[in-house]
Amino acid sequence: MAILDRFSLRGRIALVTAGAGPQFGSSLSEGLAEAGATVITASRSLEANLEYAQKLQARGLDVHGMQLDICDSGSIRALHDSVIQRFGRLDILVNSALARNGHAGGLEDQTTDQCLRSAAGDFAGLFEICNVFLPNMVQHKKGAIINISSIYGVVSNDPGIYQGTSMKQPPTYNFVKAGMVNFTRYLACYYGKQGIRANCISPGGYFNHQPQAFLDRYCERVPVGRMLENEDIKGAVVFLASDASEYVNGHNLLVDGGWTCL
Ligand SMILES: NC(=O)c1ccc[n+]([C@@H]2O[C@H](COP(=O)([O-])OP(=O)(O)OC[C@H]3O[C@@H](n4cnc5c(N)ncnc54)[C@H](O)[C@@H]3O)[C@@H](O)[C@H]2O)c1
Repeated sequence: MAILDRFSLRGRIALVTAGAGPQFGSSLSEGLAEAGATVITASRSLEANLEYAQKLQARGLDVHGMQLDICDSGSIRALHDSVIQRFGRLDILVNSALARNGHAGGLEDQTTDQCLRSAAGDFAGLFEICNVFLPNMVQHKKGAIINISSIYGVVSNDPGIYQGTSMKQPPTYNFVKAGMVNFTRYLACYYGKQGIRANCISPGGYFNHQPQAFLDRYCERVPVGRMLENEDIKGAVVFLASDASEYVNGHNLLVDGGWTCL
């Protein structure tokens, strides 16, 4: 098969949690749909996902909106049942939802309860959605799981870039995102022989109208000299979802402009 054909996702069914989100979510969904996949996006607001799907359908892409609360096991199971009933199977699962329960302030601002609530929402949700969809992937002996971690799952925040701003980084984020990277390796090792590959993407900072002082320092520090943009993430997710990466398993692909090289 020609190499570009191996990147094609035609005929594949993909689910992107928080796939209608204004930042990464929508870029991930668009990338997969542009590569030919049927894409289901799901988060708490069904309306927002249906509206987003309609926008992409108007461009000729096969995108569908559904509902999901990643902190609610009943909701995860209901989504599974709807996806399997409507599309018959799932080939690609992209975990991008971030509930941020209790994600506020720095270490000194968080109580143990907030920390536990945050971990429970984001880690338990990841654990559960993988657990619920894996049997279907195992049944048809093929699947790609892609977890969206962060540079802060690999290195610490650099406190210097936040100076003079009110931005605070909750340590639970680093805890959850680092756990995600090694949970991915666990999945890769335990399900690889059953045809399932699990990989992570760890993006760098995305432009989101942050204070100018932060933007200046971030762009000065990052080797490529700019923040991450929508198109930057598409190639990574299509590669890891497609047969072009058939022998890539348990990898953490840093899409960070070289941030973690320093
Ligand atoms: N923004 C960045 O600079 C950046 C950098 C690296 C990694 N990431 C990662 O990318 C992913 C998306 O980040 P973002 O910046 O777009 O985040 P965001 O906070 O803007 O969006 C979070 C998304 O999760 C959804 N969500 C929130 N609670 C949910 C719930 N209970 N159930 C289902 N969905 C829920 C929201 O609808 C939203 O689409 C996250 O996993 C984040 O850690 C972001």
